[in-house]
Amino acid sequence: MNFERNILITGGAGFIGSHVVRLMVRKYPHYRIVNLDKLTYAGNLANLKDVDGAPNYHFVRADICDAESVAEVFRTYDIDGVIHLAAESHVDRSIEEPFAFAQTNVLGTLTLLQVAKLYWESLPERFEGKLFYHISTDEVYGALEMDGGLFTEQTPYGPHSPYSASKASSDHFVRAYHDTYGLPTIITNCSNNYGPNQFPEKLIPLFVNNIRMGKPLPVYGRGENVRDWLYVEDHARAIDLVFHKGRVGDTYNIGGFNEWKNIDLIKVIIKTVDRLLENPEGHSEGLITYVTDRAGHDLRYAIDSSKLKEELGWEPSLQFEEGIEKTVRWYLDNQEWLDEITSGAYAGYYERMYSNR
Ligand code: NAD
Ligand code: TYD
Repeated sequence: MNFERNILITGGAGFIGSHVVRLMVRKYPHYRIVNLDKLTYAGNLANLKDVDGAPNYHFVRADICDAESVAEVFRTYDIDGVIHLAAESHVDRSIEEPFAFAQTNVLGTLTLLQVAKLYWESLPERFEGKLFYHISTDEVYGALEMDGGLFTEQTPYGPHSPYSASKASSDHFVRAYHDTYGLPTIITNCSNNYGPNQFPEKLIPLFVNNIRMGKPLPVYGRGENVRDWLYVEDHARAIDLVFHKGRVGDTYNIGGFNEWKNIDLIKVIIKTVDRLLENPEGHSEGLITYVTDRAGHDLRYAIDSSKLKEELGWEPSLQFEEGIEKTVRWYLDNQEWLDEITSGAYAGYYERMYSNR
């Protein structure tokens, strides 16, 4: 079968990647979607069970740091577009093991850039019609004061955690490949995502999981930090739009205009879980446990995504109340997913499903 486009999505077995893969596979049956993922602890092919057999979907298990394997994927599938999400993504882990973050986020991104450049340069049309799209975070901008306005695309980079430092560095390499070699690139920087399939080390799924297990809810510091939350399917829609309509060489911020102080958000989560589990109101509030603050904990993130709205017409579609209800319900309806991912049982999924293909 001849496909109109051959798109490589890295990190497609992770939280955001799985939503992007699903959207692209379903919306564009005339595109071939190749999902390249190393399947670290955060990668879970069970997130993609519903598109696994689609004729336009292919999975390749590989490490983005392995130039030869990545180059083979470019040649085999004649890749003409990249949506790069593969990364180590958790701030707390980055504090424990910063080198893993430099390895995947910096060197992995650099490897991918170089492979894309070399492959596309070898073609008669070179960079024409090609795109390397890097998915990044608002955390590269550093932290805002409570009354400190919003991050815009002009905000200078000022990362604090090893995670955000590694993402900032990868953003700089992407821009350097555009400015130095003319590689067609786009970067988007997005705020905190929430929704189904997120690994329960991040705030929302961790707290839903702990509430159902009756375990303590560790609130860092006084719970005063502020994050801007965006429903993951709205992010996936933005990625689709930017991939097709974004201006090459440019950067767009993506956010929800939806700021929450952690402790207020935590109270909404508790209330929602208790209601859905038919616990009496306030039942799980006693699980709140204030713990030592995260080292270098950024006070506030908040994104101005008006450029994306004005230029490409994107805005979040889901109200937060609806999004959080949908999310909590999903985790409670999929307690098996939570049990298996927290016990590591999904780690064997790849071997079971792919070993004889
Ligand atoms: P995730 O941790 O859920 O998934 C990451 C995926 O990348 C996993 O499937 C993992 O197996 C894969 N991976 C890791 N190292 C790899 C390697 N060396 N080679 C190939 N695959 C590898 O992450 P996520 O939350 O879905 O984030 C995806 C991207 O979006 C990241 O680049 C992250 O920085 C960015 N981002 C995330 C958020 C958020 O709120 N989660 C917000 C803004 C931007
Ligand atoms: P997290 O989901 O780790 O995302 P990020 O650090 O990228 O913003 O954390 C969201 C907020 O919740 C952040 O301010 C840290 C806080 N937090 C807690 O208070 N307790 C926890 O157990 C976790 C994981 C996070």
